[in-house]
Amino acid sequence: MSVDWAAWRREFPGLEMRTYLNTVSLGQLSRRSRAAVNTFLDLWTELGASAWYAHWLEEITETRKEFARLIGASEDEVAILPNVSSALAAISSSLDFSRRSKVVCCELDFPTLTHHFLARPEVETVILEAADPMHVAIEAFQSAVDSKTAVIATSRVYYTTGYIQDVVALAEIAHKQGALLLVDDYQGTGQVPINVKEAGVDVLISGGLKWLIGGPGIAYMYVSRDRIPALEPHVTGWFSHARQFDFDPFQLEYRADARRFEAGTPSVAAVYAGRAGLQIINEIGSGNIRQRTAALNTDLVSRLRARGFRLRIPEDPERQAGITIVEADDPMRITRTLAERNIVVDKRPGAVRISPYFYNVEEENEIIVEALEEIVGERKRLS
Ligand SMILES: Cc1ncc(COP(=O)(O)O)c(C=O)c1O
Repeated sequence: MSVDWAAWRREFPGLEMRTYLNTVSLGQLSRRSRAAVNTFLDLWTELGASAWYAHWLEEITETRKEFARLIGASEDEVAILPNVSSALAAISSSLDFSRRSKVVCCELDFPTLTHHFLARPEVETVILEAADPMHVAIEAFQSAVDSKTAVIATSRVYYTTGYIQDVVALAEIAHKQGALLLVDDYQGTGQVPINVKEAGVDVLISGGLKWLIGGPGIAYMYVSRDRIPALEPHVTGWFSHARQFDFDPFQLEYRADARRFEAGTPSVAAVYAGRAGLQIINEIGSGNIRQRTAALNTDLVSRLRARGFRLRIPEDPERQAGITIVEADDPMRITRTLAERNIVVDKRPGAVRISPYFYNVEEENEIIVEALEEIVGERKRLS
């Protein structure tokens, strides 16, 4: 299918206002998400509480379906939560660490992932070291995971380097020892296709903020149907109850589906924005997005290399998602100066993160590379 990228770009008016290469932090707002949130506000005004039954609950169901479609799952395997951390809390509160006390993460994972388990004294949280600044070797997971391991909890795409981990191999390693594979896919879903069934993932958590262009306040959690019955969250609430509207304070009976992890009232405005974002991703197709984003990154990498910048990216382009890390001595100053020139990228210790997405164009790569060259200067860059 050929995609009219210029037409999709017009869906994001913010791109006309500045050079925006920072989807790794926050995806652009589409006209569709803005209209969807306005619909939510209109319904609130016009219907008050009736909006729940007439519209909002249906919107939430459709949002679960839309996410399920994107990752090759079913609607009953998807829960909606306000952020990745609460999704993690729900899952980790379901695990019985008295039988299996070990959790295996790695140092390139986003800290919220390790923090969850570090907060539990009964958990032995193993944080694997990176083989190089880019990635953690699969063999390191292989040797760390044993019969005491409850879960491998790691990212598919590292926020630090854009490296795509081999989740199929990780699932095999986990399952061989009777452990679960939990994937923090906040930096992956949308920009790099995934089929959770084919990959053998047990739990996948993602969110609206970045590559799913749905804004803050919404996270999506997939839990494989065959794992759900054994997972009873201690972090829970009335939305997890099988008979929510019985209002029975004496008994807790979990829902049979993934909604047992939802706990409380969803953030409906965020759901409206989030669903619109998911629709766009599904309409374009994650495969097409991956191709487009890879082409933009390849173009960016060659422009940066031609100017002598040092990059922290995987050798194999197949392993690189849409994040290009440029090493820099003073990323704070650089990003501030770029912002003064109306160019938005992101910083991390010792690096500037540039993340073109499908709605960007090659000309924007040239704008950022030229600006970097001017700001950093020949001498510093090659030192
Ligand atoms: C990989 C990854 N996981 C998790 C988070 C944050 O999760 P939360 O929704 O809890 O803020 C981020 C934020 O940048 C991230 O990049």
